Amino acid sequence: MLNSFIFVVMPYAALALLIFVTPYRYCTNRLTWSAYSTQFLEQKSLFWGINPWHYGILPVLAAHFLGVVIPGPMKALLGNQRTLIVVESIGLALGLFAVFGCLMLLLRRANTPLLKRVTFAADWVLLYLLAAQALSGVYIATYMRWGSQWYLHTAVPYLWSLLSFNPQIEYMTDFPLVFKLHAAGAFLIVALLPFTKLVHLLYVPVRFLMDPPILYRWRSK
Ligand code: HEM
Repeated sequence: MLNSFIFVVMPYAALALLIFVTPYRYCTNRLTWSAYSTQFLEQKSLFWGINPWHYGILPVLAAHFLGVVIPGPMKALLGNQRTLIVVESIGLALGLFAVFGCLMLLLRRANTPLLKRVTFAADWVLLYLLAAQALSGVYIATYMRWGSQWYLHTAVPYLWSLLSFNPQIEYMTDFPLVFKLHAAGAFLIVALLPFTKLVHLLYVPVRFLMDPPILYRWRSK
């Protein structure tokens, strides 16, 4: 029952919300299609949160994604023991970097009175969820060794079975609870994406890197 909920109901519900709510928000409320900058309220710990978070999580997610889209070459690559060890070590370092960044972002919101006023329930839920997702990922990478390899033979065929509307949850049902929670967390994050500031992921805001730096000045009394 729990398995069917996590591996059938959750992914399809998340996908449906992503497909239907996202364009609705884009068309009706485009001004909220952003991660609202709070840099002018606090920027020191923002730097130590946002950089490790993004530089850690984006390559890790890209590796998850590559496993799904090119499983054959990934199997060949990770079939080499040395490459596997190197890839897993880099993955673990990046995962830890992301956990550190996310914890900094949480502490920043909790410890800055000005920021607390513009932090809403959805922001807290999202931050805690992302922290739990990164932590459970690092746990799996540490205690269920060689995940980048077994992922290709279990989670990847399961994810493809979802896309072909023939969910084969047998690939996932025998895993320990922590892995099931990691998968459930991912579906929850996808489901929340169209409702929260995480929607900026679809906007891929990289052009701002080319923007000139913004200088904020307080109006003197
Ligand atoms: C929002 C989506 C997701 C996020 C943010 C996320 C995040 C992470 C992070 C930070 C790690 C640690 C990387 C490392 O230390 O090597 C990790 C590892 C892992 N994740 Fe995810 N994950 C997501 C979705 C998924 C999904 C959907 C699955 C499979 C159903 C999955 C399976 C794994 C596995 C097997 C590992 C261990 C990799 C290894 O041992 O090197 N993840 N994840």
